[in-house]
Amino acid sequence: MEVLDPRFRHYMLQEIHAQPRTALEAVAQYLSPENRTKSIAGIALPEEQVQKLERVSIIASGTSRHAGMVGEFMLERLARLPVKVDFASQYCYRDPLTEHNELTVLLSQSGTTADTLSALRQAKSKNARTIAICNVQDAPLAREADGVLYTHAGIEVSVAATKSFTAQLIALYALGVHLGHTRRSLSAQETRDHMNDLMALPEKIEATLACAAAVEVGAKKMKDAKSFLFLGRDISYPIALEGALKLKETSYIHAEGMPTGEMKHGPNAMVDEHLPVVMVLTRDATDPQSTLRWERSVALLEEIAERGVQVTAIVCQDDVATVAKHANSVFAVPAASTLLLPVLEIIPLQLLAYHIAVLKGMNVDSPRNLSKSVTVE
Ligand code: G6P
Repeated sequence: MEVLDPRFRHYMLQEIHAQPRTALEAVAQYLSPENRTKSIAGIALPEEQVQKLERVSIIASGTSRHAGMVGEFMLERLARLPVKVDFASQYCYRDPLTEHNELTVLLSQSGTTADTLSALRQAKSKNARTIAICNVQDAPLAREADGVLYTHAGIEVSVAATKSFTAQLIALYALGVHLGHTRRSLSAQETRDHMNDLMALPEKIEATLACAAAVEVGAKKMKDAKSFLFLGRDISYPIALEGALKLKETSYIHAEGMPTGEMKHGPNAMVDEHLPVVMVLTRDATDPQSTLRWERSVALLEEIAERGVQVTAIVCQDDVATVAKHANSVFAVPAASTLLLPVLEIIPLQLLAYHIAVLKGMNVDSPRNLSKSVTVE
């Protein structure tokens, strides 16, 4: 059993604060100092198979599926492969259509989730090539898949997954860079740049944790809300889903995550001063597409703020002053590339869910009706 450090009241908080270390551990496993691009041999996927791949399916449950949804953007952009993400609990009943040159990635912290194991067996019965991305060494999922990529986050005690989620994002990014490099969708220089971005990530996670005190203050303002809406655009949409899930799990508050751009297609009608909105409003200022998306999201922020909506925004450090004019609370993360920003964005949302749960007197590490690993279908 992991020891609870007396500096932390709960495992969830300890595990949130462990993320700079677990990220460093994961990055060190995937990048070797001599040859930074080749350290994920466990996937056991020969170069000629990587060249022939035509598509990828990612199958998972709960938080792991949200990591898979971020992975969809990473693999599509890095390896230029079409990616489909599914709930394990849906896939296992689907009689799925798998292509000959398809890679099926099963993501699971525990490696014992019954739905995900069942999906793995279903994929194998269709002759799909399978990789498990798993945190627990030698778990059934890791043993049964053709290849395995461990996430190296260490034992996670709190039911609400935190450090294992960021470790999964790092594993997916390393996998995307490996596939992109092998398939030549990334040049040698681009591969090196991505690897350097990954090496710089643990320090950025550490810097992000500096928002902890501000999040605790913000949680006090929001704790009595009956419902929350989380918004994120593009690769930040799964982070909105994950932020909402963390709040549901730990505080038992209704929360919904949706793509920012979908607000105008219906949900805008229900948003008023009684429904706090949490917006992921980061951008990679060096990426014009990212800035375009950000400007559209800021326009929505201005519109809803005028209607008296309580908005909490997750922003990059340089945008704090601009966004703070319209938002009630602003939590900052350091600048990062578009594909790695999700690893930072989730940290204030994990802390927000944690502090609201503590303020409401919830059983933070063991929420009612939930278990760390669901071993029945
Ligand atoms: C349970 C846990 C969730 C977790 C999900 C998938 O529902 O309560 O926190 O995300 O299982 O778990 P896995 O171990 O497969 O990632």
